[in-house]
Amino acid sequence: MTSNEREYVLGTGADELERLGLQHRLWSDAAHEAWKRAGLTPGMRALDIGCGPGYAAFDLAQLVQSRGKVVGVDESASFVAHVREQAMARRLAQLEARVGDVQRLGDVLARDERFELAYARWVLCFVPDPGAVIAGAAAALAPGGRLVVHDYFNYECMTTAPRRESFTRVVQATARSWRKPGGDPDVMARVPALVAACGLELEHLEVRQRIARPGESMWAWVSSWWRNFTPKLVALGEISADEERRFHADFDGLTAATDFVVLPTVFELIARRV
Ligand SMILES: C[S@@+](CC[C@H](N)C(=O)[O-])C[C@H]1O[C@@H](n2cnc3c(N)ncnc32)[C@H](O)[C@@H]1O
Repeated sequence: MTSNEREYVLGTGADELERLGLQHRLWSDAAHEAWKRAGLTPGMRALDIGCGPGYAAFDLAQLVQSRGKVVGVDESASFVAHVREQAMARRLAQLEARVGDVQRLGDVLARDERFELAYARWVLCFVPDPGAVIAGAAAALAPGGRLVVHDYFNYECMTTAPRRESFTRVVQATARSWRKPGGDPDVMARVPALVAACGLELEHLEVRQRIARPGESMWAWVSSWWRNFTPKLVALGEISADEERRFHADFDGLTAATDFVVLPTVFELIARRV
């Protein structure tokens, strides 16, 4: 991360880069299904809003192929540099990454730039003005183009099963830490109305609820998330060092075959520009 880069709540360091890679692998089935449902085919133009280090953008670039185009936008200069390096290394000349605030997509995209698909995954929950992101995406869609969103509602439903008080407290602290800089771990509740306000037609809304059991890859996602994030919660003053220790002791104890974690519910929305 460069020194003048505004740090978003999860950070942009090597640990987050790795975590986002695993996260994409584990959720790419949902992304690919949604893009297919939205009609993505070779030759199309796709916009990846809040692309991070580009894991979805690389897949999109392969799907639209060299005669299509993918533009990724992220406020992190280091993530954007990573996308550019990888695009070169993977010979994906159709993939371009730009630094910018997704709440001001008009400043990042050319006035006449249009896309058949705009994808926003796990970014609306971090911005103070998701309506501005959606308005910018709607304006950039070609007629008939689709906005696809994967994001959270009811994040605090995340729990161990059976419930553990230490886990519940840390989940609540996490939601607080997103809300303070203006994010919303319930954002998906607002997205259908926000897309309608931009004149987009809501075509599809569904929920993707998953669990993680000890030993599964999904468990590695949950545990890497907490390994990275609880030190940030302590630094932010959301939990004490004692609460952090208790949390990890309880979490490490969840190895019995009967324990599982209910993951935060991911909602999927597809809306079409008429
Ligand atoms: C949880 S990551 C998700 C990355 C990617 N969409 C994915 O699913 O792999 C959230 C991303 O949103 C970016 N972000 C947060 N607020 C932003 C803003 N206002 N403008 C641009 N990017 C933003 C962060 O830099 C980060 O890369």
